[in-house]
Amino acid sequence: MRNRRKISLLGTLLLLAGCRQDMHDQPRFKPLAESDFYADLRSARPQVEGTVARGQLHEDTYFYTGKIGNNPGDFMPFPVTEEVLARGHQRFNIFCAPCHSRLGDGNGFVPSRGFPRKPPSYHSERLRKAPVGYFFDVISNGFGIMPDYASQIPARDRWCIIAYVRALQLSQNATMGDVPSGQKVPSEPPRFEEPGSGATLPVVEPKSATEEPQ
Ligand code: HEC
Repeated sequence: MRNRRKISLLGTLLLLAGCRQDMHDQPRFKPLAESDFYADLRSARPQVEGTVARGQLHEDTYFYTGKIGNNPGDFMPFPVTEEVLARGHQRFNIFCAPCHSRLGDGNGFVPSRGFPRKPPSYHSERLRKAPVGYFFDVISNGFGIMPDYASQIPARDRWCIIAYVRALQLSQNATMGDVPSGQKVPSEPPRFEEPGSGATLPVVEPKSATEEPQ
């Protein structure tokens, strides 16, 4: 009997404790309010040094910088598959072609409309020899007047784009020796000339009225 009373008293005490207002009334700072408690007079405290946000622990340094120590590396951090090239092709056409052109020769739309400098062609000797890590650095940190694309293009997509740039470089410098035996090379499609060069686009006229679409 005695024990039971003790237990119920304890229960009541616990309940009463739960009803206290301390949590609501406790002293606190409004976000970004001033405080004379800290030497810098800010109530918001800086993050502890070395804090890493969830999902942002970039342990694979090469994947995220393209560098080994201070030098650009020259290998892809993952195998180049057809899927990687297709992704790179698509991302390149979105993010790079407006300035560098779909061919990568630097004759993109944006420079032709007054962007202060024409990008260099990827097909120069220098950029054909540049290591893939160098391209990663240019995309991630920008180059000269070219802005960086670190926040728009995730690291993996940057690598996909670079794989595609390498394919573009190969495509513009291929020789007959690169054609697998037994395969024919289709004749070159008509090239679109730069505006103002006097060239006109090829016009294909139907041979006769019967060939017109119904
Ligand atoms: C807004 C236009 C613009 C876009 C978009 C752009 N670039 Fe550039 N890029 C430039 C210009 C301009 C330069 C030359 C910068 C200079 O010399 O100041 C350049 C230079 C470069 C270079 C050569 C660096 C060197 O050593 O000469 C590379 C490589 C490059 N860009 C890659 C890319 C890739 C890859 C993308 C897409 C992710 C891209 N760029 C998107 C304008 C652009």
